[in-house]
Amino acid sequence: MADLDELSDPTIVGEPAIDRQLPDGVELHYDPDTEARLAAHHPDDPQTPEDYAALWADLVIAGPADHELGQPLTGGLTDLVTFGDIDLDAVVAQALTITDYRQDAGPALLAGLTDAQQRVVRHDSGPLAVTAGPGSGKTHVLVRRIGWLLLAGVPIEKLIVATFARAATLEIRGRLHQQLEPLVGHGRAREAAANLKVTTLHALAREIVIEHPETIGLRPGVAIISHQEHDHGEEDAYSPLRFIAAVLEHPAIAELNQELSDPLTPQSAYRQVAEVRRQGLGPDEALANAQTRTDTVVALVYRGYRQVQRRLNVLDLDEVIAAASAIIDADRSQVRLLHPEDPHPVHVLTDEAQDLSVEQLRLLIRLAGPELCLSMVGDTDQAIFGFQGADPDLFSRVFGEICQQAGKPLTTIEMTHNFRSANAIVQAGERLMRHQTGRAPRNPVAVANGSGHLHAYLFGSDEEEADFVCREIAHAVDSGTPPGEILVLSRIRTRTMQLIADGLQAHGVPYEAKRTQRLSQTAMARGLVALLGALTDPHDPRWLNALLIGLVLTNKHRHDRHSIAQDITDAAMTQRTTTTAAILALGHAENQTPGTRRNAQQIGELLTQTLALPSTAHAVPQVVKALIDTPQLGIRTRARSSEDHTRLNDILSVAWTYREVRPGGSLREFTSRLDDELAHRPDNDVVRLDSIHAVKGAEASLVIVAGATKDMLPLASSVREGNLDEERRVMFVGLTRAKDRVLITSSETTRTTKPGGATTTRRTGGASSFLREIGVPLHAGLDLSAPSTTPTTVETP
Ligand SMILES: Nc1ncnc2c1ncn2[C@@H]1O[C@H](COP(=O)(O)OP(=O)(O)OP(=O)(O)O)[C@@H](O)[C@H]1O
Ligand SMILES: [Mg+2]
Repeated sequence: MADLDELSDPTIVGEPAIDRQLPDGVELHYDPDTEARLAAHHPDDPQTPEDYAALWADLVIAGPADHELGQPLTGGLTDLVTFGDIDLDAVVAQALTITDYRQDAGPALLAGLTDAQQRVVRHDSGPLAVTAGPGSGKTHVLVRRIGWLLLAGVPIEKLIVATFARAATLEIRGRLHQQLEPLVGHGRAREAAANLKVTTLHALAREIVIEHPETIGLRPGVAIISHQEHDHGEEDAYSPLRFIAAVLEHPAIAELNQELSDPLTPQSAYRQVAEVRRQGLGPDEALANAQTRTDTVVALVYRGYRQVQRRLNVLDLDEVIAAASAIIDADRSQVRLLHPEDPHPVHVLTDEAQDLSVEQLRLLIRLAGPELCLSMVGDTDQAIFGFQGADPDLFSRVFGEICQQAGKPLTTIEMTHNFRSANAIVQAGERLMRHQTGRAPRNPVAVANGSGHLHAYLFGSDEEEADFVCREIAHAVDSGTPPGEILVLSRIRTRTMQLIADGLQAHGVPYEAKRTQRLSQTAMARGLVALLGALTDPHDPRWLNALLIGLVLTNKHRHDRHSIAQDITDAAMTQRTTTTAAILALGHAENQTPGTRRNAQQIGELLTQTLALPSTAHAVPQVVKALIDTPQLGIRTRARSSEDHTRLNDILSVAWTYREVRPGGSLREFTSRLDDELAHRPDNDVVRLDSIHAVKGAEASLVIVAGATKDMLPLASSVREGNLDEERRVMFVGLTRAKDRVLITSSETTRTTKPGGATTTRRTGGASSFLREIGVPLHAGLDLSAPSTTPTTVETP
């Protein structure tokens, strides 16, 4: 860190500014340069004795050579303590407590770590890559490194922790609160945990795009749209797929499309456009590079889709990362999020780096800027997001080359000890992974106590399997395993998981089936956020917000909900007017059905009322509460399910917390954070049921990999596409979540329930072929009448 090196220069010039009796060991020096540095550290003017004390402590901590935080106190202080009515004694006393505390914190951050781990925590500046297997403490040291950088004086706003997957972000957030607070202590750690940017790359990119839309040809108020299906299989009315479908229907494109031997559908067109975008190509480049007629049509659809986005002022979530990079490229000094006015380099830290795609790596490098203070930790054995464009080669090779070219050689550190899993589990994982093509053997060393258990079971039906799993869990909980120390994992969401959830309910074991449920997935909360969004900028083109309001405030269960939304969208799009006007016009349009007119009138009225609500001048929680309580909006009365009520209460409580950490925080910032804030609320002590992909980075005492059948794990469709290695990594990630015990369960048959209620039985082909590679014997023929029986081995696959 260039700035720390400067600060550690022992030649402090000048005379002591204040002639005061200071406690032993504290020397005050007047140093004109220091004042400038302090000002850079703390752009906000210090006002209170606490402010001054924190300033001073920062300086003293930053002062000692080599960042040895345990050194005696030396350092400089400007004459700023003579300002105003500040009581110097109080300042000194307070600064000393903070300083003492921090001097303890430095060694505490390194305590118990191996040499390699310590090197990660203490790494100075420039790029760093840490490669190590599961349970080796990658996330652990990343969190400690955050503490280290904060102690070393890196301002909170100059630290960005960004990961590709939400799961990794949640993992780090959880640990920050747990670990950093006791170590770094004091208000600043709380502040750090609350204000530190720990976020997904998507959320970060979204923030940059929303702040600087003009750079990429969009306008203020840009809305981010994404292709997502909801639980009931419906799609959003404003989904990219609908826009793509409209583009495909354009006469010129439709004609070309029909001439193809295999014409594009909206779905296939969307997939292919996504593929082209992933290669980093714009529409014109795609057109120029088109090799086949299909390529040409795809490029034209891409271009049309881009135009629709520009016109409607929306951006596809899949384009957000590239858009953010483009904005930083255009003018880094304008990107508010990077605090360009502060001279410190930005420090970017990322976990699970093997899951990055080209675009994401590009964005991380741009965020870090020329100093390239980019710390990445990851494990290529755990790369399981290939289907989303992740490429582990970027982390293991390309990153190093980029650093080299930039004249900032990469420091690489390896760690070989596994602190999480008992030996049997560590070795089972390694046996499995030795079947990977072209992988060099590793020799992980288990540090954890206990030998560990690994068992595999095959049942006749998924009902029997679920029954067994529930009994095992109930038994474990009865024997003292906290529910939060149990993970039930599956490759994809299956009926088996549903049966297990039902079974746990029946056993009275607390569980949670979808931890990462996003705020945006509940209609009620979504509507509220849209309303908040509408309030933040009264000049927004409002069609999207209105659409959401319409969706939410019309009856959730009405079958014509989407057609209403569609009518509104069409009206807003064709009339190119503000949405309110479009909706009001729709309410009187002769050519509409009475039902549509009525709905439009109702929504138009609501929208008009929304515009009259408390403005952004009010404190965030008041605005949120006012919205919820406005009877005309009917948010409370229309919240039907208990989930809706919980979400509303969550939003309110986040708003209050937000006010505490960000007293003058803006509504806009609040809404952009809300989704993430809600997702990382600390969990209760519950059994967690989830997909393997969603628990990346997590750990638990007992891990049950359920539904591990021949056709599910490896997933048959993925194997057909040549991804057996990635499937094996999925199994590896699942296994290695466990500290003490792993159960892998499967069934001969499983049933699927069709929407109409009819069920079909499917033969699964038996247990996962990975069991043989792991070398775990398969148990069957359990006596289910007794809990947790010792099984008899009937077959070794
Ligand atoms: N030096 C250490 N001493 C004791 N415990 C440690 C040490 N380092 C890490 N741990 C503990 O080991 C466990 C695994 O660490 P962590 O989750 O950071 O591993 P990881 O490398 O991130 O794993 P994954 O690849 O699965 O994400 C955690 O419970 C962590 O607290
Ligand atoms: Mg980790």
